[in-house]
Amino acid sequence: MNLEMSVSTHIPVLLQETIEALAVQPGGRYIDCTLGGGGHAAAILDQSSPGGQLLGIDADPEAIKIARARLEAYSGSALLINDNFVNLQAICFKYDFFPVHGILFDLGLSSLQLNDSSRGFSFQHDAPLDMRLSPSQEVTAADIINTYSETELAHLIKTYGEEGYSHQIARHIGQQRPIKTTLQLARTIERAIGSRRGRIHPATRTFQALRIAVNRELEHLEATLKRAINLLGFEGRLVVISYHSLEDRIVKQFMHQEKKGCICPPGTPSCVCRHTACLRLITKKVITPSPAEVQLNPRSRSAKLRVAERIVTQDEHYKTAERLCFSVEVNGGWRKPALLRKLRRTFTTL
Ligand SMILES: C[S@@+](CC[C@H](N)C(=O)[O-])C[C@H]1O[C@@H](n2cnc3c(N)ncnc32)[C@H](O)[C@@H]1O
Repeated sequence: MNLEMSVSTHIPVLLQETIEALAVQPGGRYIDCTLGGGGHAAAILDQSSPGGQLLGIDADPEAIKIARARLEAYSGSALLINDNFVNLQAICFKYDFFPVHGILFDLGLSSLQLNDSSRGFSFQHDAPLDMRLSPSQEVTAADIINTYSETELAHLIKTYGEEGYSHQIARHIGQQRPIKTTLQLARTIERAIGSRRGRIHPATRTFQALRIAVNRELEHLEATLKRAINLLGFEGRLVVISYHSLEDRIVKQFMHQEKKGCICPPGTPSCVCRHTACLRLITKKVITPSPAEVQLNPRSRSAKLRVAERIVTQDEHYKTAERLCFSVEVNGGWRKPALLRKLRRTFTTL
């Protein structure tokens, strides 16, 4: 697929909703952790003009090439990095790109990757069982399929694919190995559980499981959400679009945990976790695409957008108050122990 064609065939999901959720403003600074074809990134750069800046990250060097072509007009405002978003913090420190007004994750694969007949993500094309986002990763889907024990495969397919027939599938894979291509695998699964099962192809869940395992998707998401919070400035927005229940569960649990103060188990006599709230949910309910969007772009049908805003923790409140308390501008540099004691009481009882 040539670059021009790639750029014109990718449709960003929940585009308007994402821009609103990020509260994009002129002169703002944003990170797109999943640059893909650059659709969301282009809209963020438009809305944040004049003076906006965007750091775009993608693990797939092909995606970076496509996004670079699409974002050529904004080259002075966009910094595009080919890396895994699990390295988000190191990237931001290296390029001095923090604090930011908003961080976006549009998870999973782009339609460009799914339609690329050489990557092995889809059973619509026959291709080597690869599924790596980046060629620098060591483990491919073929490595997993051909070296895991049947028990390990069944566990993986059940856990990451939420597949009820994981044991039958693993047993058939064990009998048919070596399996080298997507179609060989899809046919093995069809033989294991039949070729018609509801609305989805019988291989869908197993392919999802393999992709998640090859790219360590859930592990990277969980680790990066925690790091992302520290890069957000006050009232900075965290926006995540997910496409299946395993991802969405992680995002939901994370946001719900970070909006809470103490997270000690119920019945703990006094707080030992010292956890403080650092997010506020902007919408209680998840945002999903309209029927019109789903009709235009069927890939969007499973999308779920969640958004939260960075708030200041009690600890940070206290430190700011303490700084003010000691600052020359506020009180001529005199320490005021009584005021400090009062602040400490106020902030520990919030
Ligand atoms: C759904 S697409 C993003 C599409 C993009 N929002 C657009 O409008 O064109 C997801 C992208 O995230 C990238 N990606 C997924 N996991 C990643 C990770 N852990 N680190 C970096 N990029 C990742 C994929 O390579 C893919 O290009």
